[in-house]
This record gives sequence, C-alpha cells and structure tokens, in this order.
Amino acid sequence: MYTQGLDSPGTVDLPAPAADRQALERRFQARVDAEEKIEPKDWMPDAYRQTLIRQISQHAHSEIVGMLPEGNWITRAPSLLRKSILIAKVQDEGGHGLYLYSAAETLGVSRDEMFQQLLAGTAKYSSIFNYPTPTWADVGAIGWLVDGAAIMNQIPLCRCSYGPYSRAMIRVCKEESFHQRQGFEIMLRLARGTTAQQQMAQAALNRWWWPSLMMFGPSDTDSTHNEQSTRWKIKRFTNDELRQKFVDFTVPQADFLGLKIPDPKLRWDEASQHYRCGEIDWTEFKNVLKGHGPCNQERLAARRRAYEEGQWVREAALAHAAKQKLRTGRAAA
Ligand SMILES: [Fe+2]
Ligand SMILES: [Fe+2]
Repeated sequence: MYTQGLDSPGTVDLPAPAADRQALERRFQARVDAEEKIEPKDWMPDAYRQTLIRQISQHAHSEIVGMLPEGNWITRAPSLLRKSILIAKVQDEGGHGLYLYSAAETLGVSRDEMFQQLLAGTAKYSSIFNYPTPTWADVGAIGWLVDGAAIMNQIPLCRCSYGPYSRAMIRVCKEESFHQRQGFEIMLRLARGTTAQQQMAQAALNRWWWPSLMMFGPSDTDSTHNEQSTRWKIKRFTNDELRQKFVDFTVPQADFLGLKIPDPKLRWDEASQHYRCGEIDWTEFKNVLKGHGPCNQERLAARRRAYEEGQWVREAALAHAAKQKLRTGRAAA
C-alpha cells in the first residue's frame, strides 16, 4: 500500500522551551524503555527521527538495488521451476523496498526525495549488491548467505521501537526465510551434483563469504551509531554480535554442504563455544561503500534507467489521480 509522504513532522513536534523539551525527552525514553511502540504522530527527538530516516531509507534502497544481481539470472535460470521461484524472490525484494519507503515516509521524508538521493549516488545502500553474479551458483550463494545475513540483522528489528518499521520487518522476515531456504537448496543440489557443479558452488562461496560478513557493518570499535541506537531500541545487538551469530549459524551449514569456508584462520573456540574468523578486509568494505566496488556504476545506471523508463507510468498515475479528484469533486457538487 502506498503511504502519502508527510512533508511536515507531527504537529506536536513544535520547538519547545528547554525545560519542556527535557520533559518530553524523558517521557519518550521512558516509553521506549517500557517497550511501547513510537508511532508517526508521537513526539520524538529530532535525532531519533533522522537516525530512522537514514537507516530505513538505506534499507529500502538496499532492497531495490538488491533486485539487480539476481534479476540478472531470471532469463537464464536452469529450469522453469527455478525461474518461477527466482521471479517470486526478486519480486519480494521489490515489495520489501516499498514497505520500507512507506515506513520512512511516515517520518516526514518524501519518496521522491529518497529516490533522488539514490539516483544521485549520495545515499548509501548495502555494499553487498555491488558484487557480480557470474554463475548460477551465485544465485544460490546470495540466497543462502546474503539473505541469511539479512535475517540475522532484521529479526531484532521486528522489535524496533518505531512501530511502522517494526511491523514492516515482521512481514519482510517471513519472506527472507523463504529466500534463505531457496538459496541453500540451490547450493545443496550443486554440492550433491557433478564435480563441475561442486566447484561452481565452492567458487560462489569463495566470492560471497567475506562480503556477507561485511554486511553487518564496521566492527563495534569503529561503529558510530551503536550506542545511541541501542538506547533508543532501534538496535538490539551490536554489529559484531550479529556477525558472530551469523558465523556460528552458517559454518555448520557449509560443513553439511561439504564446502570449505575461504578463511584459513577459521576455528572452533571451545572456551567461548563460538567459531573465530580471520581478519576482515575493511579497506575493501570502505572502497565498495565509496562507490569503487566491481558493480557500483552498473547498479546505479540500472536504477537511473528504470527511473527514466518509468516516467510515463508516474505521469499517467498522476493524471489518473487528478481526473479522479475532479470526478469526485463534481459528484459532491
Ligand atoms: Fe529483502
Ligand atoms: Fe531476501
């Protein structure tokens, strides 16, 4: 469902004298602490609003750009069944983007503004979608690892303090769970297949393992948003905690597939009961985020082309809305 952009914040969010403001902030934090949901027209600190606009819009952009690496394989899926599953999955990602743009709009930013930021290259989206998908196994690896990492990140967001975001995430997570299983099943088929198929699966794991770990964002020591977001209950776990959960969950799955995680330093730590990984190459992560990943230019060019080609649809929808309004007005007169 489309939600109209609210270009002004709620009427209760007027500039308040300092003492009133402190009282409002205390009340707001008490509601968050009591696990009450904050709704669009409730008073909220401006920094909370801005943090959510940034996070939700980046999340929405990631879903929309995330359609591209797999969309690339729709025409080449190895069977009709695989093709229909992949179409459904890519369509789900588009739907996730739309729920999230709607959730961001409730905070006072318009969809058009968010789109313009994406198309201008000034908005961030998940670095993972700037990697290419050269083989069918990459589609499997994306479902298994990228959607798997997304679930790990997103399940705690179902309990986020901001109502519209948390409700959108409940639906999104159900669909991500299907995505993860379809990806794992592709990998399983390849891993149980011919030697060439096994090698294809291993090569895809080699390509996607490290970028998947980077999806959780910078290490806690370098992350600027952790502490405040945790206090506001937007974030429930730190980047490193979520990354660790993902590793602990995924390594046994790779073992089951008979594939090798491309990390010579990966080991089971008996004392902590966790897998320990080697060092992540944060230089690569920063480069991809800055726009120097293998497919950054290609992804943005595809989004810009889609926006231009969709111009007539937006114009037709506006013309239809104007006609409807005129007709309703005439009928009421
Ligand atoms: Fe998604
Ligand atoms: Fe997904």
